[in-house]
Amino acid sequence: MSDPQSMHVWSDRADLLAHSLVGYAVERVRLPKEPTWGARPASELKDALSGSITPQGIGGHQALRIFRDVLTPACRPMDDPLNLAYVPTAPTLASILFDLVVSASSIFGGQWEAGAGAIAAENEALEWLADLAGFPAGAGGCFVSGGSAANLNALVVARHHALDRLGLRERPTRWRFAATEQVHASARAAGRVMDVDVIGVPSDDHGRMTGVALDETLDRTGADGVFAVVASAGTTNNGAVDRLDSIADVCRRRGLWLHVDGAYGAAGLCASSARDRFVGIEAADSFSVDPHKWLFGPYDSAALVYRNPELARVVHTQHGVYLDEVDRSEWNPSDYAFHLSRRARGLPLWFSLATYGTAAYEAAVERTLETARGFAATIAARSDFELLMEPDLSVVLFARPDWSDDDYRTWSRSRAAAGTALIVPTTWRGEMCFRVCIVNPKTELDQLLALLDDMAAWSG
Ligand SMILES: Cc1ncc(COP(=O)(O)O)c(C=O)c1O
Repeated sequence: MSDPQSMHVWSDRADLLAHSLVGYAVERVRLPKEPTWGARPASELKDALSGSITPQGIGGHQALRIFRDVLTPACRPMDDPLNLAYVPTAPTLASILFDLVVSASSIFGGQWEAGAGAIAAENEALEWLADLAGFPAGAGGCFVSGGSAANLNALVVARHHALDRLGLRERPTRWRFAATEQVHASARAAGRVMDVDVIGVPSDDHGRMTGVALDETLDRTGADGVFAVVASAGTTNNGAVDRLDSIADVCRRRGLWLHVDGAYGAAGLCASSARDRFVGIEAADSFSVDPHKWLFGPYDSAALVYRNPELARVVHTQHGVYLDEVDRSEWNPSDYAFHLSRRARGLPLWFSLATYGTAAYEAAVERTLETARGFAATIAARSDFELLMEPDLSVVLFARPDWSDDDYRTWSRSRAAAGTALIVPTTWRGEMCFRVCIVNPKTELDQLLALLDDMAAWSG
């Protein structure tokens, strides 16, 4: 029989393992990752892991070796400066390392009485974000796992609020919210989870929703059961920011909840050169922004901010006899989204903001915007490429008009396999093209231009 406390008591062996793990984590941050790292076949990983879970344990050093030698190389380095696909990540050194501290501190971030110190700091970070968006004093919310969770949680509040506000005794036959076809997949997924329908608003040439299109669509489809509009402040596919000011006017006039999904793009609020794109966000009822995307935080973290958090508290607070003694007079993050136990996942953002200052955030976001604009300008000036649109933020869509769909795919796969760069094709209005998403201030324009030259010289 093993010693029942052996896993919890400090010893020389534990000390050695602790230093190995922390040392490894620091090296992981310090050393560049291999851009060729990526998924391996499940059978290969299963083989490598066989025998790792045994009655006696294989020991931390052996498990760490497996992680270092087999498992880490089977994971894509998401923060590589030339990982330009999907929405990558670029956490600051302080934010990653402080994430270790958060883990080490065993904080319950759900309720004030358990995690007051952590929650107070998270709320400072939320307040900074709310101020950037021009939300009034009293705005607030919590950090959830990601932009998908943020969209769902906000929509649940919006629907409940509509029910309350309209005093509806009978629910409409179908609840509905409006969004363009460019809205992130998670908003549609939220609709499925909530069993509500999505009204499609046509987007303009740039993929943006406008107030006029929203208004016309709602006139056409009728207002029955419509409770919200999900606008995008930075669509995933092309980084477009919807016309939030005119959308907010329509929402105000029609009494609809406006949720702004800024999971990727609302980080652009930090940058004075991009701030005018977001005019109107200050009139939203809720918005979200993910530190793990363009706000230089580690996975997984999304800030969800409500103009009037009380509306969210009414919906999301959980009740049970075992919770009766919880102090409800303080700020309990579990009351603002669908969760109870909760990692204080906003702390790495707070620590990083405190460490480097907000000016460093502005500089880093501006750098990525400059890189994106410089890249777009070069593409526009070349005759062998086509810039599909001026970027609103840091996503650039471009085409090589003489390429077939297979050419895009083959180039993309070969450069990914070689570790040169990860650029994955997408489509724009049905045509294949390349999409580059820049969230890493270490991504250099020269590197991107070299990739263009590589594409230009490539003959399949
Ligand atoms: C605009 C937008 N919203 C929501 C999401 C979903 O975020 P998460 O992956 O953190 O759930 C994404 C992800 O890329 C996104 O770009």
